Amino acid sequence: MSHNTIAINQQMEKFDGHASVWLFGYGSLIYKADFPYIERRTASIANLTRRFWQGSHDHRGTEAAPGRVVTLVPESGAVCNGMAYLITPEVFTHLDHREKNGYLRLATQITFDDETSVEGLVYIATADNAAYLGAASEQDIARQIAASSGPSGPNRDYLIDLAHALREMGKHDAHVFAIEQYLTS
Ligand code: SIN
Repeated sequence: MSHNTIAINQQMEKFDGHASVWLFGYGSLIYKADFPYIERRTASIANLTRRFWQGSHDHRGTEAAPGRVVTLVPESGAVCNGMAYLITPEVFTHLDHREKNGYLRLATQITFDDETSVEGLVYIATADNAAYLGAASEQDIARQIAASSGPSGPNRDYLIDLAHALREMGKHDAHVFAIEQYLTS
């Protein structure tokens, strides 16, 4: 699959005709909401876990030296905490551009902190996209993040801002916090 997922995402018809759609954010979408939304609520999705396994050459790295950003990978029993936004369909034009480096819009069940749930969308970069980097030790991930920078700024800021936002929400993420520990010690 090519790096640029805009055309594929624009063919997503699942929520056509809906006046609004819930979007689940688990990475920069938690702390950088540069789009209009009607409402936002802390939420989680099940059986997926957050990992710094996606390469970034458009935001936090370059083609020659990609940074690392988060995607979600299947893990039975896992719970990924994040932020859900209720948005109108026009907002996807902006989001598809922002998430174009390998992320696909996929339907998912979103559970709010009061345990009610709704079907919505999440951007996931699956293992078959060209920018995917895959697993590495948390120490190696920290080294790569420390050395990377791109048009949206240092890769380090992405990780620190995400760790900070999770802490503010009262949520723990062992993977994110372990990489933060290597980066800041
Ligand atoms: C997300 O935040 O939900 C997707 C990954 C990212 O944009 O950092």
